[in-house]
Amino acid sequence: MSAQIQTRKRKTVCDIVAHKGGEPVVCLTAYTAPIARLLDPHADILLVGDSLGMVVHGLSSTVGVTIDMMILHGRAVMRGAQQALVVVDLPFGSYEESHEVAWRSASRVMMETGCQAVKVESGEGIADTIAFLVARGIPVMGHVGLRPQAINVDGSFRAKGRTKAERDRVLREALAADRAGAFAIVVEGVDEEIAAEVSSLVRAPTIGIGASARCDGQILVTDDMLGLFDWTPKFVRRYADLGAVIDKAVADYAADVRARSFPAQAETYVLKPS
Ligand code: KIV
Repeated sequence: MSAQIQTRKRKTVCDIVAHKGGEPVVCLTAYTAPIARLLDPHADILLVGDSLGMVVHGLSSTVGVTIDMMILHGRAVMRGAQQALVVVDLPFGSYEESHEVAWRSASRVMMETGCQAVKVESGEGIADTIAFLVARGIPVMGHVGLRPQAINVDGSFRAKGRTKAERDRVLREALAADRAGAFAIVVEGVDEEIAAEVSSLVRAPTIGIGASARCDGQILVTDDMLGLFDWTPKFVRRYADLGAVIDKAVADYAADVRARSFPAQAETYVLKPS
């Protein structure tokens, strides 16, 4: 049997690193195959974020997300995406304990999903783990500033860098992740000044979320920017109002069902066009 030839070349971490100081990196979250298929032609990176715990599964934070959940969604996104680099989050509890635990989690995620890289929330203590994984062939994206997995320490999802100590900490976290070999660093919930400083000091492209336009790229939670929720964070520009579109479509559907108005079943029951 001949080897299957992939038609479109998938981006690599080297392609992402090459964006530094050039064209901004376009990133979005994806959790399912059909949405990944729609986002893929436009995105440099699709992140299977552990935000899926809140966005898809209705959890109140990302702390309850398991590695099995990440793998299930990671596999779905890999089926939908052809050209974007796919990064899968390592969830809370799957990498902090030791290098070996992190290695087992990260290698399992890479092997079982086929993704190209993992992301860790990189407080200063995690830099060594990043270096350990990178040295063994696993590309790692860092994540500094507001770290949602630290919600139980921080008490809320609020921006970072309001005090000098906090600003210094964000900077130290970013520099540590950079020195450890992270190929890109998500910078979440910081002001323009910190975003600009971090971006100018690290070698890796910075990917901002709620961190101004002074990063090397941006990521948004796709469901936020498509308007699927009643509430969106202030930093998110809504590019569509899909919540309203769905509401109208479902109301129209309900009216049709109640009026017994649908196409004749025998003629229309074709699951896929031939
Ligand atoms: O989990 C996630 O979706 C993230 C992004 C918002 C950066 O970490």
